[in-house]
Amino acid sequence: MAAPQNHDVSKEKVLGVTRPGIKPDEVLDFYKKWSKEYDKDLDGEEYGGPRKVAQTLAALLGNRRDARVLDVAAGTGLCGQELSSLGFSNLDALDASQDMLDVAKTKNVYKNFLKEFLGPNRLNIEDDTYDGITACGLFCDGHVGPDCLDQLIRVVKPGGFICIGLRETLLHTSENCKTLEPRMEALQSDGLWQRVSREVFPGYCVGFDGVVYVHKVL
Ligand SMILES: C[S@@+](CC[C@H](N)C(=O)[O-])C[C@H]1O[C@@H](n2cnc3c(N)ncnc32)[C@H](O)[C@@H]1O
Repeated sequence: MAAPQNHDVSKEKVLGVTRPGIKPDEVLDFYKKWSKEYDKDLDGEEYGGPRKVAQTLAALLGNRRDARVLDVAAGTGLCGQELSSLGFSNLDALDASQDMLDVAKTKNVYKNFLKEFLGPNRLNIEDDTYDGITACGLFCDGHVGPDCLDQLIRVVKPGGFICIGLRETLLHTSENCKTLEPRMEALQSDGLWQRVSREVFPGYCVGFDGVVYVHKVL
């Protein structure tokens, strides 16, 4: 368990970079300064989210260890490291922060690195490219909102899975997250994907519970 002092520092950074009203430019500046310390601050004890998201997707992909997976908002590569430790090697990383991607490169678990901004804009990726997506820690203030979901669905093959993890409280407090579930439901009503599971779990990040969703692309 991290020392209480370290826990307080980690929590302050997590709450700082996701504070209500923070702007996307401020978020990227924050990660620029934090990138080298991120893994030290958010070790497995403090941040169980990436492991949970990776394990959840891995269970669905089963024996298909050659499945092509895109880790969106990959950051320093924590989801990719977990997937790699589970035997997956066909992994790409996407993030808006070059500094975070530079750290992710040092992990030697991803094949391709895509510096892309997640939003309503079209991603520079062909339709139906991936068997699965991991998405951990991106839905929060100043980061990513539900307007990116259409693009995530577009780049996943029919039958593929999108696994999303976030801090559960943000569903009620963050402007970017309050509309997440309604948008997920609308996409299901439109026949674009189907909910497979929704699980609330402890130990997501700095003491907060998480929620992990899986949807199957139709
Ligand atoms: C909390 S970190 C999560 C990183 C990694 N998934 C993890 O769980 O450790 C959030 C990441 O989202 C990225 N990010 C924030 N806004 C973004 C956007 N609009 N498009 C793409 N990436 C974004 C940041 O650069 C950062 O690397």
